[in-house]
Amino acid sequence: MNATKARGPRRGGGKADARQSGPLTGAAAAPGDKSISHRALILGALARGETRVRGLLEADDVLRTAAAMRMLAPEVERDRTREGALWRIAGAPWRSPEKSLYLGNSGTGARLIMGAVAGAKVSAAFDGDASLRSRPMGRVLEPLRMMGLETSDQNGRLPVALEACQDLKAITVKLTTPSAQVKSAILLAALGAQGVTRVHEPELCRDHTERMLAAFGAELSMTPDGGQGRFIEIAGGQSLTACDVIVPGDPSSAAFPLAAALITPGSDVTVRGVLVNPLRTGFYETLREMGADIAFENEREESGEPVADIRARHSVLHGVEVPASRAPSMIDEYPILAIVAAHAHGETMMHGLEELRVKESDRIASVEAGLAAIGGDAASGPDWLRVRGKGGALKGGALIKTHHDHRIAMSFLVAGLAGEKPVEIDDASMIATSFPDFFALMTSLGGDLGVS
Ligand code: S3P
Repeated sequence: MNATKARGPRRGGGKADARQSGPLTGAAAAPGDKSISHRALILGALARGETRVRGLLEADDVLRTAAAMRMLAPEVERDRTREGALWRIAGAPWRSPEKSLYLGNSGTGARLIMGAVAGAKVSAAFDGDASLRSRPMGRVLEPLRMMGLETSDQNGRLPVALEACQDLKAITVKLTTPSAQVKSAILLAALGAQGVTRVHEPELCRDHTERMLAAFGAELSMTPDGGQGRFIEIAGGQSLTACDVIVPGDPSSAAFPLAAALITPGSDVTVRGVLVNPLRTGFYETLREMGADIAFENEREESGEPVADIRARHSVLHGVEVPASRAPSMIDEYPILAIVAAHAHGETMMHGLEELRVKESDRIASVEAGLAAIGGDAASGPDWLRVRGKGGALKGGALIKTHHDHRIAMSFLVAGLAGEKPVEIDDASMIATSFPDFFALMTSLGGDLGVS
């Protein structure tokens, strides 16, 4: 098998497999951050003037948001330049599209655009694939209804139509789920509301919307709540002004090659230009506690966000207790953490995982079943996952059900790179929702994986 050349197409569909690979070595650039990419398109489309975005993650989820912005905003263009793709967005005012906005698999796209549509005072209908149709939207629709919006949903699920409300009212709300998507939807709607909207966030979650709103000229205030959280206040009636955005690399995607290096003997991998916003780095903090040889190098600031090159070397790891308070800062990294934990010595106990039940799949169930199939040892409860590590390679030799979940697919392929026997996954197509170059990047580091 050729370990230096991708066996599969760039956008892998169908089954894929990964088999034991020599040391993974070298450096690669992280793909653009998904959260920041969605927000750059949405805020750019709301702002007056031309917003220029570089480093946008051109993955299926983000391209769905770009398509939605094309239906709502005056102009969204992609130019090819010597430095790579340049997205130019001529924003505001928005129009009500005749056709439904189709957000595919993307919860972030659907939820943030619902808030933005409310704030822009246009009407729009929303739909998505089977997975997105099964995910809870009431958490966003509820506060939007409190602001005065009429919604057509059945049981808080897609499809849903939002009816433009011209006298949207500010609200005071406490987040009951630590969700940046819900927080962002409320803040985007608040831009068009009368009065000052106050959001109490009892547990801090990613703050890219707040940072980017400030970069686009909005005024908002953040005050500590005396505990773990904060209050955010934003006045309605503010307009945004276009600005240039450089999208940093995605720590949630960088997690896969770095985790692969930690569990594959002899490896030494660097992923360049990764966002290290402290509200996104819980995974890396946990790895350090497990004894991982992992370093943030060349730390710098780009477009108002902290960025670093992250280097990981194969390490002898031990199990740890991961507190519930860390969940918001690593919510998308639990599947790959579970794979790392399965290779560590001792037990890793992860708490506060209830949100994993309503991601692209029930990630607790997907991980538990997948680990059992490849010789791992995991147990779970409603909001916890316990993994007993083997202190080395897993057996492998099984076909994993991904449940159309990109992060389950990538996590189990990483397990295959260190496995005694190859690990196969039932469907690689969803990997393109967040990391279209996954196969190319992993093979460039020496991984033997591809579409089977
Ligand atoms: C995201 C927030 C998280 C995360 C998702 C992206 C965002 O979801 O799981 O992949 O960009 O705001 P929740 O905020 O619903 O936890």
